[in-house]
Amino acid sequence: MAKVPVQFTLNGSEKAEFIDSGTTLLQALRDKIGDTSPKGGCHQGTCGACSVIIDGELRLSCLTLAETCNGATITTTSGLAEGGVLHPLQRAFLDTFATQCGFCTPGMIMAAKALLDHTPNPSRDEVVE
Ligand code: FES
Repeated sequence: MAKVPVQFTLNGSEKAEFIDSGTTLLQALRDKIGDTSPKGGCHQGTCGACSVIIDGELRLSCLTLAETCNGATITTTSGLAEGGVLHPLQRAFLDTFATQCGFCTPGMIMAAKALLDHTPNPSRDEVVE
């Protein structure tokens, strides 16, 4: 399988790797880069456990080819905490026991973050596309 270069910013750090062409972003993040916060559930785009934010948009990393992310800015749940302090969404999930078993929690947190990034007051504001 052909190796292709991929370079992107992950949680504020520049990453550059050679990956097998056709590797999903989920595989690249977990197996090549070592960020295991996105989880692989269904691997077919239905569960959302693998959700990450790419250039400000919520994306399913299991359906995104890593080689299409050249130059992108990618955020995963492991990049949300700052200085050892949990992001408010992480804190809220923890405080309200919303983590359930914890496996798909990173995807839910990233979905909530993407929603709030686009619609800070979702119960009052109209959703902005
Ligand atoms: S692993 Fe289920 S949507 Fe990606």
